[in-house]
Amino acid sequence: MKKINAIEYSAEILEGFKAGGVFLNSKLGDKINTMTMGWGSLSVYWGMPILIAPVRISRHSHHMIDESGVFTVSIPAKGMLKKELSVCGSQSGRDIGKFDTYNITAQQGQVVNCPVVGEARIQIECKVVAKTQLPAKKMTQSIIDKWYDGTMQDGDYHTLFFGEIVDAYIID
Ligand SMILES: Cc1cc2nc3c(=O)[nH]c(=O)nc-3n(C[C@H](O)[C@H](O)[C@H](O)COP(=O)(O)O)c2cc1C
Repeated sequence: MKKINAIEYSAEILEGFKAGGVFLNSKLGDKINTMTMGWGSLSVYWGMPILIAPVRISRHSHHMIDESGVFTVSIPAKGMLKKELSVCGSQSGRDIGKFDTYNITAQQGQVVNCPVVGEARIQIECKVVAKTQLPAKKMTQSIIDKWYDGTMQDGDYHTLFFGEIVDAYIID
């Protein structure tokens, strides 16, 4: 395992978002879950390295991250784990245990009480330090139409979870 500065790996991580997504992992009590996440940002806020995870309210992961206050993100090597990303992005942890069903290794995090996907390359562990709810005061109608069924009131909007990056490493 090699410790890294996640911000220095921004290009590879952002490419992971675009190219089929990354794993967003959560744990609440003795339940673990993962979902595919295709959006997000690596950034610096309040003098801390921050990963922002946008999670719709309807996701099972939303409740788990909101309650536990932690999450991890696992970024596969280029082109790897495509099938796993696809199924974890279409099935809910409410209905199945995705790690067991899809034979993904839940490897215990180093700092936070939450697993990472052992088969992935880059691992980022986060503590939620802030969250904010979309819709923003001003969003273009084209975004609302395309992503939120055209309504400012009842759309299944994303919560932006600001996760302080407390550990980041590469599993070879
Ligand atoms: C490529 C891809 C990217 C996705 N990105 C996001 C995302 O950024 N935020 C989100 O809330 N859902 C996203 N999803 C949908 C969730 O992964 C999907 O609804 C998943 O089944 C939720 O699992 P859960 O209910 O166990 O949390 C994405 C799905 C795919 C296939």
